[in-house]
Amino acid sequence: MTLNEIALHRRSIRKYNGGAVTREQLEALVCFAQEAPSWKNQQTSRYHVVTTPEVLAAARQCLEGSNPQKTEGVGALIVTAFKHDIVGHTHGVPDNEGGNGWGWYDLGLQNAYLLLKAAELDLDTLVIGIRSADRLRALLQIPDDETIGAVIAVGHRVEDAHRPPRKELAEIARFV
Ligand SMILES: Cc1cc2nc3c(=O)[nH]c(=O)nc-3n(C[C@H](O)[C@H](O)[C@H](O)COP(=O)(O)O)c2cc1C
Repeated sequence: MTLNEIALHRRSIRKYNGGAVTREQLEALVCFAQEAPSWKNQQTSRYHVVTTPEVLAAARQCLEGSNPQKTEGVGALIVTAFKHDIVGHTHGVPDNEGGNGWGWYDLGLQNAYLLLKAAELDLDTLVIGIRSADRLRALLQIPDDETIGAVIAVGHRVEDAHRPPRKELAEIARFV
């Protein structure tokens, strides 16, 4: 698949078939994510990869709204996080107005790489922002110096999903 085909094949999938996701595949996703650029190459993104069935079931219950149902049949949940007060900081003081926003930025970049790698490997994903960070932290013993970001569900789609419309180019970009 070309990069364009990979990007179009990737969709937010909300119905999974219970198919297996291997440790090797999950390691490939995280390794590829590491190829993303990061502020001063500080690589503060962290991945808590949940596959053990009973822990996976408990982690799904830390998702909110209808996300527990949407993740039935996934092979893994990847809780993504970043070590805060490092990126965009010098000696603990923010370098500019971005502050820890740059940590979110780097995590998002890495996560985008992870999603595209998953699509290339014919794995499906759902980025989940509606989740309880506090309950995930307690369940997985995530250190206090990490800010918890999105959870990424990984599995196999039951059926293809439609592509939600994108805004017109003129609405999101200006050329000066
Ligand atoms: C930061 C972020 C948080 C999201 N949180 C959720 C979520 O909690 N539940 C959900 O079903 N989809 C969630 N989504 C998926 C978006 O709704 C989806 O990406 C968007 O509708 C575009 O569809 P597509 O991913 O198929 O292109 C999230 C996406 C992002 C980037």
